[in-house]
Amino acid sequence: MTNQYKVDELVKLREQAREGGGLDRIERHHAKGKKTARERIALLLDEGSFEEFDMFKTHRCHHFGMENTEYLGDGVVTGYGTINGRLVYVFSQDFTVFGGALSETFAEKVCKIMDMAVKNGAPVIGLNDSGGARIQEGIESLAGYTDIFLRNVTSSGVIPQLSGIFGPCAGGAVYSPALTDFTVMVDKNSYMFLTGPKVVKAVTHEEVDTDSLGGAGVHTAKSGVAHLAAASEEEAIQYLREIFSYIPQNNMESPPFVPTNDPPNRSELSLDQIIPENPNEAYDIKEVIFKTVDDGKFLEIQPDYAPNLVIGFARYGGISVGVVANQPKFLAGVLDIDSSVKGARFVRFCDAFNIPVVTFVDVPGFLPGTIQEHGGVIRNGAKMLYAYAEATIPKVTVITRKAYGGAYCVMSSKHLRGDINYAWPTAEIAVMGAKGATEILYAREVAEYDGDKAAYLKQKEDEYAENFANPYIAAKRGYVDDIILPNRTRFRIIKALIMLKDKQDSNPPKKHGNIPL
Ligand code: HXC
Repeated sequence: MTNQYKVDELVKLREQAREGGGLDRIERHHAKGKKTARERIALLLDEGSFEEFDMFKTHRCHHFGMENTEYLGDGVVTGYGTINGRLVYVFSQDFTVFGGALSETFAEKVCKIMDMAVKNGAPVIGLNDSGGARIQEGIESLAGYTDIFLRNVTSSGVIPQLSGIFGPCAGGAVYSPALTDFTVMVDKNSYMFLTGPKVVKAVTHEEVDTDSLGGAGVHTAKSGVAHLAAASEEEAIQYLREIFSYIPQNNMESPPFVPTNDPPNRSELSLDQIIPENPNEAYDIKEVIFKTVDDGKFLEIQPDYAPNLVIGFARYGGISVGVVANQPKFLAGVLDIDSSVKGARFVRFCDAFNIPVVTFVDVPGFLPGTIQEHGGVIRNGAKMLYAYAEATIPKVTVITRKAYGGAYCVMSSKHLRGDINYAWPTAEIAVMGAKGATEILYAREVAEYDGDKAAYLKQKEDEYAENFANPYIAAKRGYVDDIILPNRTRFRIIKALIMLKDKQDSNPPKKHGNIPL
């Protein structure tokens, strides 16, 4: 008699745990076009790198006959592995076990890896697919959720936290992904909301389906809750891996350096002609980004939300950066409530994780009007100002065209500790546009003018444009460090980033600031 039977038993139990809620439920899950919790982990991590914890953990609930229904692992797969050789902690909710609903022990498993991640300085990626609080457990489940929320908050700014939404994510459960840094949703098969269509109908009499209430389209274009919508689970996981490639392990480290064959001194002659002669004509700022970054690779974040501001990750000379850029193609690139919130959160993420920010400025100002004012554009615009002002990471700014008024101040200006501020010769750095300025300055003169008032005003406007809408006044004051050839933008940004590699700066000691939330 040997102990082989004990080994066999372990192998059997592991197999049982890997089957989650059973083969039937897995089949039904697959039939909905969804992958299992373990299949998602396999796609996310380097092959064979996953080490699982708490595979044998079960719930402790004795209500509603639950004592007779136990599944090894209790509905969540947790552990660690690597992505491109870098350590990452993962939890993946298993919908085949009680609909992925969260129990007390489920939460303990998630908290265990979150605590380990902080101790060992590595990111956490959560793959969500759950019916929310496990109803049979009642408040133990609520306690479990809140234990996770607390860790989401205390880990924020210490280790990066990423979320993927692969199925339902409803009720208070939404707050865990909402507290993480980036959320990727799968189109059609995932949704996030506080209350589902039935409750909405009962309370507000509004008829709405799941997708229109909280699908990927809604959250990536309207609410700003999620950052990327993927066409498939594979694509969502690819997005998570890609974001991961640009960010560091924790707030004490720098992002990975990725060498490139793209020459740092590559000139891009087409940029010399990209700014239209007519200041009211648009161009695509993304063309400037794509043409200057390494290998034309730019991972845009929140492409469909507030498209008047472009944000995303790229590299310059192998250095990972966050890019923030006004987009003249949408609303002339104005700053408004949504774009300010979008930009501020991104800049703060980059600052927390030592990722330099490269800012391209072409902004005519803040969007006027009652909708914006009543919606709090003052408070929300101040977020952007706050984020740039408090950021101590390297900040490199390139003004391509308009930098008017308050928006000039906000967009990583010298006055907010911009480290290197460049302007193209096409830059117009002024308190406001020529038309608006002359209409105010010459209102009385024009009213009293006997001749052709419109022609007189146009002449004044041209004079203003000639004298003030240029980069040279700012350069004389040192508000921009140099006026650069557009075609040399890539080279100048890379040189600046290398020079700023070991930058040290700080803010006065404090518990925390009071960002205008
Ligand atoms: C326990 C649950 C469950 C839950 C689903 N199941 N949700 N078990 N607690 N919250 C079980 C089902 O009984 C079923 O078990 C299996 O999971 C799959 O569920 P189905 O309904 O068959 O699947 P589907 O048709 O795809 O619908 C999925 C669903 C639906 C939309 C998620 O199950 C649903 O509406 N569930 C309830 C959601 C909910 O109200 N949750 C509580 C929210 S309150 P069997 O054995 O048949 O396979 C909340 C508060 C959190 O979360 C607060 C945090 C602070």
